[in-house]
Amino acid sequence: MKTIFSGIQPSGTPTIGNYIGAMKQFIDLQESYTSYFCIVDEHAITVQQEPLKLRQQTKSLAALYLAIGLNPKKATIFIQSEVSAHAEAAWIVQCNTSLGELERMTQFKDKSAKDNRVRVSAGLLTYPPLMVADIILYQSDLVPVGDDQKQHLELTRDFVSRFNNKYGNGNQLLTTPEVNIPESGGRIMSLQDPLKKMSKSDENKKSFISMLDEPTVIRKKIKSALTDSSGVIEYDPENKPGISNLLTIYASFTDFSIPELVDRYQNSGYGQFKEDLGEAVVSVLEPIQIRHNELIDSEELDSILDEGAIKARMVADKTLLKMRNAIGLGRKRK
Ligand code: TYM
Repeated sequence: MKTIFSGIQPSGTPTIGNYIGAMKQFIDLQESYTSYFCIVDEHAITVQQEPLKLRQQTKSLAALYLAIGLNPKKATIFIQSEVSAHAEAAWIVQCNTSLGELERMTQFKDKSAKDNRVRVSAGLLTYPPLMVADIILYQSDLVPVGDDQKQHLELTRDFVSRFNNKYGNGNQLLTTPEVNIPESGGRIMSLQDPLKKMSKSDENKKSFISMLDEPTVIRKKIKSALTDSSGVIEYDPENKPGISNLLTIYASFTDFSIPELVDRYQNSGYGQFKEDLGEAVVSVLEPIQIRHNELIDSEELDSILDEGAIKARMVADKTLLKMRNAIGLGRKRK
């Protein structure tokens, strides 16, 4: 069976962008892959986090993984910092990656430009090697992510090929992963500025729907989503990015395709469309929220995470040892 790995940062509550771009894919893929779903808390500390809040968000994300339907009997669900091989492998990756490659990463360029360069942590620059480490430690074949992670996956593939060539003596020490981006919904846009990606760290809370937003808040945010003045429901991301984004969200939360929705709403205005979309999103998120609240402080959640960490360590340590042996770190061990 082939392997998938993916992770989400507990740097806030996931948005419906995270759900559509990544989490929804996890649910289907866990059926046909050996699956690892990680809460990447070490990635989250590349920017300042409040300790108690970070811990709460980490557990909340784990509870959400289960609440959306990830099955711990099929998939390994674990917290990154509880598997020390990630940080160790990341060091090896950093030492085999050039500064130029890291400085070219768009996410680094965006985030370091926004902030003062002096205050930005070095971790923001070396963040992609940690992501490479996450992926290679499980010899992952496929990585389901949203569109914004494409560049990091390319970096991973480049690293694997360089590492195998340099240290493999003709063997494929590490597996080259493929990226899996959903055909529709790989980039959900902000509700207030449809030219910008929806992000859980956006200061304007009206720009995103968090998976734990109250139903009344969800309906309100959709109602106030920026559209255009034509009032015609059409899918045209270039000229009508607002309504096109809402169509993508609608299709992702229901069984309707975008053309079916366009057809269905050809004689309605944006008001009716937004009202129905609000109901569609609430009807999916409400049961997830109820399950999340049952799980968050449960022993069940703790024991799933304990077991996940044990299973993950076994696999990750094996790959790490292979890497250490290949590059001559320490004494050779089996
Ligand atoms: P993060 O936490 O920013 O986002 C988690 C996942 O959600 C996707 N995503 C989106 N998809 C569609 N529309 C959006 N507006 C949107 N915003 C976010 C992201 O593409 C991602 O799949 N570096 C990663 C976490 C990570 C990881 C990994 C992922 C760390 N190690 C290894 C895969 C494999 C990140 O910051 O995701």
